Amino acid sequence: MKHLIAPSLLSADFRHLAKDMDMINKSEADWFHVDVMDGSFVPNISFGMFIIEFMKSVAQKPLDVHLMIVQPEKYLEAFRKAGADILTVHYEACTHLHRTIQQIKQTCAKAGVAINPHTPVDVLQDVITDLDMVLVMSVNPGFGGQSFIENTYNKIKKTKSLILSTGSNAIIEVDGGVGLNNIEKLVECGADVLVAGNAVFKSENPQDTILQLKTLNKKTYQV
Ligand code: DX5
Ligand code: ZN
Repeated sequence: MKHLIAPSLLSADFRHLAKDMDMINKSEADWFHVDVMDGSFVPNISFGMFIIEFMKSVAQKPLDVHLMIVQPEKYLEAFRKAGADILTVHYEACTHLHRTIQQIKQTCAKAGVAINPHTPVDVLQDVITDLDMVLVMSVNPGFGGQSFIENTYNKIKKTKSLILSTGSNAIIEVDGGVGLNNIEKLVECGADVLVAGNAVFKSENPQDTILQLKTLNKKTYQV
């Protein structure tokens, strides 16, 4: 599949959120990436359902909701009701991950599981065929604008092999420090969805940056 671009609204200007979202609506971007942080799973707090409801009223593209929260199972229905199209929970935050994945599916949202940089992808072996998406974190979650962790390339390749060897239909999303400097290599390694926060919103012309992220050069990398 052609790779998808999901600008992360965490880096948007919240004084003009609707305006920034409208720019994404008009751009070549595919999804809105929406980061929910609880101050417990990660050392930062962002926003909850109330803001997501507002985002949903402006969005003309799917809301990809990344839950960086403990006990996400308590709030899945509420986030779905608020407008989430894809619900991703963290492996590290779920004691009964299999059950949580089934709960996401019951809401009819797409089900994703995220893994932190220290978590090996093998832990998803027994649930991979139940997943619509694996989110490979390429920074430690909690903040936008961090540096990309190089080991992510290997991790994407391992995730891709796990998907192929099990016949899973899951796609691979990469989140953190993604930009024009590394996107081609990430796609070559097997990434399907690229989240970009600062790379889009802190650039001079965000809409044009999205276009560039979407339209890769033909340059090939050793992967
Ligand atoms: C980090 C979040 C990311 C973040 C990415 O915890 O999950 O989605 O917004 O921002 P950049 O692209 O600036 O690293
Ligand atoms: Zn995220």
